[in-house]
Amino acid sequence: MNTPRVPTMKPGHSLIKHYLQFKDLRAPEYAYLFERAAIIKKRFKNYEKYQPLADRTLAMIFEKASTRTRVSFEAGMYQMGGSVVHLTTGDSQLGRSEPIEDSAKVISRMVDIVMIRTYEQAKLTKFAANSRVPVINGLTNEYHPCQILADIFTYIEHRGSIQGKVVAWVGDGNNMANTWLQAAELLGFTVHVSTPNGYEVDPAVAGVSNPDCYKVFKDPMDACRGADLVTTDVWTSMGYEAENEARKKAFADWCVDAEMMAVAKPDALFMHCLPAHRGEEVEADVIDGPQSVVWDEAENRMHVQKALMEYLLLGRIG
Ligand code: CP
Ligand code: NVA
Repeated sequence: MNTPRVPTMKPGHSLIKHYLQFKDLRAPEYAYLFERAAIIKKRFKNYEKYQPLADRTLAMIFEKASTRTRVSFEAGMYQMGGSVVHLTTGDSQLGRSEPIEDSAKVISRMVDIVMIRTYEQAKLTKFAANSRVPVINGLTNEYHPCQILADIFTYIEHRGSIQGKVVAWVGDGNNMANTWLQAAELLGFTVHVSTPNGYEVDPAVAGVSNPDCYKVFKDPMDACRGADLVTTDVWTSMGYEAENEARKKAFADWCVDAEMMAVAKPDALFMHCLPAHRGEEVEADVIDGPQSVVWDEAENRMHVQKALMEYLLLGRIG
C-alpha cells in the first residue's frame, strides 16, 4: 500500500515511523525486514530493476565522516529509483548554528526521508520530533542501529537464526555495543561483553532492562569462550579522538586474535563494522581470515537499508 505523500503529514503523525534506535521496531518487523532484504539483494545481484521509490528523495546529513553509510544509502536510494541530497555540517547552515528544529521543519518539507549521522542521540530525537518524514539513525554517539541490522542479516545468511546464540563483544562499551544489547533483548540472544575498566556498557544508556540479555566478563578470552559470533570495533570512536592515547593503553589486551577465535565455537564468525585498525582491535589474520565475514557485512548495509527505507515509506509490500 502506498501511503499519502509524507511531507503533507504533521510532525508526530502516527503514520510517520522513525528508526532512531534498534528497539524502534519489533521482532516481527525485523523478521519481515530480513525477508525483504534477501529479496532485494537477489534482485540487485541479478540486475533486476526494482524502483518502488521513484520520485522519492532521501536527505543524508553527515556531521561525522563516513564511507559505508554514505555509499550504501546513496547507491541504495538510486537503485530503488529515488534520489539523494547530501549535506554536511561544513557545507550547510547546520554548521552555522541554525536550530536543529528549524532545519528539520525545512528539510522534511522537501524530501521524503532523512538519514542523520551526528553526535548526541538527543539531537537526532529533536530532529525527528520536528520532522514530517521518517528519520533514520546513521550513527550517533549512543547507537548504530543500521549496522546491527546488517550484522544480524549477515549472521542469518551464514548461520540461520540468531535466537539463542552468543555474541562476544570485545572492546569499547560504545554505540555498537549498546545497539547489540538492544538487539539481544529484542531478538532473544545473549551478548558476552568484555571491556577495559572505565569503558563498560551502561544498561541505562544502552536502553535495556532485561539483565539476561548480556553478561560481563573481565577477561576477553572468557567472553569469547563458546561464542557463535565474535565482534569488535575501533578503540576510539568518532568524537572521542582526544582520548586516543589513553585508550591505546587501556585497550591493549582487547585485540581479537587467533587465540580468542580458537576458544569460540569452531564455526564462529568474526564481524567488524569497519573501518578497522589491524594490530589494534583485531589482528590481520582474524579480520582477513576464514571466519571473517566483514565484506559481506559491509555490503549488506545497502541491502538491509533498502528494505528499511521501503518499509518506512511504503509499509509492508503485498
Ligand atoms: N560501519 C560504518 O558505519 O562505516 P562508515 O563510518 O564508513 O559509514
Ligand atoms: N564506534 C565507531 C563506529 C564507526 C562506524 C564510531 O562511532 O566511530
